[in-house]
Amino acid sequence: MSSGAVRGVRVEVPATTANLGAGFDVLGLALDITNVLEFSLSDTPGVEVHIHGPGADRLPRDSSHLAVQAAWRFYEESGLPRPEGLKVRQRLGVPLAGGLGSSATAVVGGILAAAALSGADWSMEHVLELASAIEGHPDNVAPALLGGLVVSVREESGKVCAVPVPVNEAWSPAAVLAVPDFQLKTSDARAVLRPAVTLADAVYNVGRAALFVAAAAAGRTDCLSVCMGDRLHQAERSCLIPGLASVFAAARAAGALGVALSGAGPTVLALAEPADAEAVGQAMVRAFADAGVSANIIHTAPRYDGATVYTIRS
Ligand code: HSE
Repeated sequence: MSSGAVRGVRVEVPATTANLGAGFDVLGLALDITNVLEFSLSDTPGVEVHIHGPGADRLPRDSSHLAVQAAWRFYEESGLPRPEGLKVRQRLGVPLAGGLGSSATAVVGGILAAAALSGADWSMEHVLELASAIEGHPDNVAPALLGGLVVSVREESGKVCAVPVPVNEAWSPAAVLAVPDFQLKTSDARAVLRPAVTLADAVYNVGRAALFVAAAAAGRTDCLSVCMGDRLHQAERSCLIPGLASVFAAARAAGALGVALSGAGPTVLALAEPADAEAVGQAMVRAFADAGVSANIIHTAPRYDGATVYTIRS
């Protein structure tokens, strides 16, 4: 058993892909790419922030960093004092603002780091409530915290109800991400959506989102192209993402089991048999290039471990 005072904590938080096509604002899947956040107590008063990895220069290096802001909210809610001196290190593996839950990693990481550093005994539900309140929606923070495929909804009272899906071990598609080299703000990607939809379109998505969950639980990937269909958000968003329809078509033609916008985009997620993953990625890059968009491919997979906290004792 470890002993000594906790001097620091390291939290590893996975990227997440929300919506999966039909499950707009309710489905999220953790992916095997992580951001790592370290908080350590310092004798120097104030906050010192160091960030490493792609996109590091785009993030603030002071207490306005989202992970620090999330930590401050934790101390406020807990009625605990903030540490006088705090050193923060972040190692980025998740592309920024691409629809892969990078802000959720900072929010979840900041809360969990602060909780571990202060020794507070917060339940997962409590962490999820605060993380969802900061993030504004639970569909990224829930899988980032819990791992795997998670269904989350906000109840009328505002409380978040999140349930991980017991995914069958036979359900193991490769996840191929085409990450365009431009950013899209979630607020801009929501501004183009219709305020009301038809009953037929609502039924279309409800059925497919439910089918996605049932298929994952049953270990079936054969119906993913049906499950990932959508009539609520992707068509409207295509005006913000050049070549989106042809990227979807190219992924399917190269053998993708299903393809969808990752979260609010602009990243595109294809689920594929591992043997087809390479060809699917190349087809998506070519289709984006034909539309004048340069994109990187990331090959990854669903991840069933959620955020993991390691303590560093003196
Ligand atoms: N589900 C949200 C949306 C974003 O599609 O706008 C979650 O990343």
